[in-house]
Amino acid sequence: MNELAGKHIVLGLSGGVACYKSAELCRALIKEGATVQVVMTEAAAQFITPVTMQALSNRPVYGSQWDAREANNMPHINLSREADAILIAPCSADFVARLAQGRADELLSLLCLARPQDRIPLLLAPAMNREMWAHPATQRNLAQVAQDGATVLAVGHGDQACGETGDGRMLEPGELLDEVIAFFTPKVLAGQKVLVTAGPTFEAIDPVRGITNHSSGKMGFAIARAAREAGAEVTLVAGPVHLATPRGVQRINVQSAQEMLAAVEIHAQQATVFIATAAVADWRPAVASEQKIKKDGSGQTPVLGFVENPDILATVAQSQHALAGDLFCVGFAAESHDLLAHASAKRVRKGVPLLVGNIGPATFGQDDNALLLVDAQGHRELPRASKRVLAQQLVAEIADRRTAPKT
Ligand code: CTP
Repeated sequence: MNELAGKHIVLGLSGGVACYKSAELCRALIKEGATVQVVMTEAAAQFITPVTMQALSNRPVYGSQWDAREANNMPHINLSREADAILIAPCSADFVARLAQGRADELLSLLCLARPQDRIPLLLAPAMNREMWAHPATQRNLAQVAQDGATVLAVGHGDQACGETGDGRMLEPGELLDEVIAFFTPKVLAGQKVLVTAGPTFEAIDPVRGITNHSSGKMGFAIARAAREAGAEVTLVAGPVHLATPRGVQRINVQSAQEMLAAVEIHAQQATVFIATAAVADWRPAVASEQKIKKDGSGQTPVLGFVENPDILATVAQSQHALAGDLFCVGFAAESHDLLAHASAKRVRKGVPLLVGNIGPATFGQDDNALLLVDAQGHRELPRASKRVLAQQLVAEIADRRTAPKT
């Protein structure tokens, strides 16, 4: 996807060993459709060569405010004016201090100081040793630059090049890319608390066996990510799936439908939007054996009895919070045929304002899907696209309905 198509990013590198990650970041930004202009401090050039960054960005790298290649000799003006954002990655402790003081004696800090603040955002990806990160001077400087309008991104935790372990690592290139994409996303769900269920459930037969289904969780995870990018506070209750947690999303792992209901009931009370994408098992074994069921040699097969699982969506949709209009509930319908008829009936049966239909067997585990949105007014198709794109479209649809006056 070209999620940064048309965006021009000034990627500034200050001195730090994390410069090696900036090469990958530069590629990732370009792969998403951005154009990237690299500016490096003298210290950054000790860690990675401008040649590497020029080759990856396909543009000459700037490093001096006296660069005679610019006709007016003002690279600090020319480079910043065409940017959609300036991203400093890595942003060293020294560079934060320079920004906090408004210094302008080398090109990168000069360029940051000279940028039109109302138009060109400044994003900082700090990278430093844990002691430097924890030092009151650094924290004071970070607070100051944030107050001055910069967006200070998080740092990672873990092993550091110096051999120590702690906070201060620069985020990984993929994480930084996600942060940049999120930064440019319109905040249509700002102030909303979104609760999402995703994936299958696993209903135990005994300690080593159980009943589950083919749901991959991809749609629910994509929705959680898109909702967070749109400014919501997101909690994701996930059945057993091997997917990375979207950045900034609170994840709660569960196994069974009963566990999923318990987690959902706790978080639904604070939520303003509930999106049930999970493929919850309709039935569970009436008794889960505490020990592995063994063959006894007789050839007899075990007889399993089933009981119905709670309907999580219907339970939440009937709660006081939802009935009062304070929780907007969205259901999904995984059908094999007659999508519109089944989805419409399911919307009424579950008591939700919006139901999203899809053909289950055609989408389970896939990266794309097609959706049918059904509400009281009628239905609308979201044609086949990646789950990422569909999640963004669905979030926009929910934002429209959530901000509309209650009926
Ligand atoms: N759902 C739920 N709890 C259940 C079953 C379903 O929360 N025990 C939610 C799903 O997350 C989805 C919606 O209800 O949002 C519809 O799920 P689906 O499996 O399509 O429908 P069912 O209610 O199971 O009905 P049926 O199997 O008869 O089609």
